[in-house]
Amino acid sequence: MWKSHEKFERHSLILLIGIIIVVSIGGLIEISPLFYLESTIEKVDGVRPYTPLEQAGRDIYVREGCYLCHSQMIRPLRDEVERYGHYSLAAESMYDHPFQWGSKRTGPDLARVGGKYSDNWHVDHLTNPRSVVPESNMPPYKFLAETDLDYRNIEQRLRTLRTVGVPYTDAQLTHAREDLETQADPFASQRSGLKQRYGAKANQRDFDGHPEQVTEMDALIAYLQVLGTMVDFRTYHADSPENLR
Ligand code: HEC
Repeated sequence: MWKSHEKFERHSLILLIGIIIVVSIGGLIEISPLFYLESTIEKVDGVRPYTPLEQAGRDIYVREGCYLCHSQMIRPLRDEVERYGHYSLAAESMYDHPFQWGSKRTGPDLARVGGKYSDNWHVDHLTNPRSVVPESNMPPYKFLAETDLDYRNIEQRLRTLRTVGVPYTDAQLTHAREDLETQADPFASQRSGLKQRYGAKANQRDFDGHPEQVTEMDALIAYLQVLGTMVDFRTYHADSPENLR
C-alpha cells in the first residue's frame, strides 16, 4: 500500500491523473442526479416573463449596480421572513438573466418590494433618498427621471432572452415596442394587448409622474413594482400540488 503511494508522490503526472479520477467521481455523483430529475425548478402559478418595460427597468437596475447594495433573495429564516415576507421561490427568479440574488445588503432585500410603496415614493426616493429616509446613505439617481428610455432594440433584447430559455411568444416579441409604450401610458386602454399578453395583473400606468415621456425612471419603477408580486401567497402552499403546474 505505502509502496504504491510512493509512485503518486514521486511522479507529478501520475498524481495529476489520480486527482482527475477522484475529482470526477465526486463531480459525477453531484451532477448526474440532475439529469434524472424531471425539473430542478418547479413551475409556480403566476410567474411570467417580464414585460418589455419591466425588462428595460431591470437592465437599468443592472447597469446602475443596484445589486451591489441590494439582494433579491429572502432566505427561509425566521428573521428574514418576518422582515421581508415569504421566502423566495426558485421559480420567482427562473426568468432572470442574470439573476439578482446578490451577496451584499447595504440596503434592504428588494425581492418583495413591489407594491410596498407608491410610485411617487419611489420617484422621491430615487431622486433624493434623504428626502424620505433622512438617515439613508443610498446615492441619488435623479438623472433617471430626466433621461429618455432608449428602447429601440427592445425586441432584440427579448429575443436574446428567448435564446437562453425565457418563453417569450412570437406575439410578445413582435409587439415589444408597442407593449412597452402602452405600459407607461396612463391613457391607453386597460384592455390593451399588453394585458392579453402578460396577464390582467400587469401594472399599466404612468410611473414617474410625467405621462408625456417614457423615461428610465418609468422603466425602473415598473420593474421595482413587480418584484415579488407575481405569486399570490394567499393561495400558495409549498406542499399542495395544485399550485405547481
Ligand atoms: C451604496 C448602496 C446603495 C446603492 C448603490 C443603492 N441602494 Fe437602494 N438603498 C440603500 C440603503 C442603505 C437603503 C435603506 C435606506 C433607504 O430607504 O434609503 C436603500 C433602500 C432602497 C429601497 C427601499 C427598500 C425598502 O424596502 O424600504 C429601494 C426600493 C431601493 N433602495 C432601490 C435601489 C435601486 C433601484 C438602486 C439602483 C438604482 C439602489 N437602490 C442602489 C443603499 C443603496
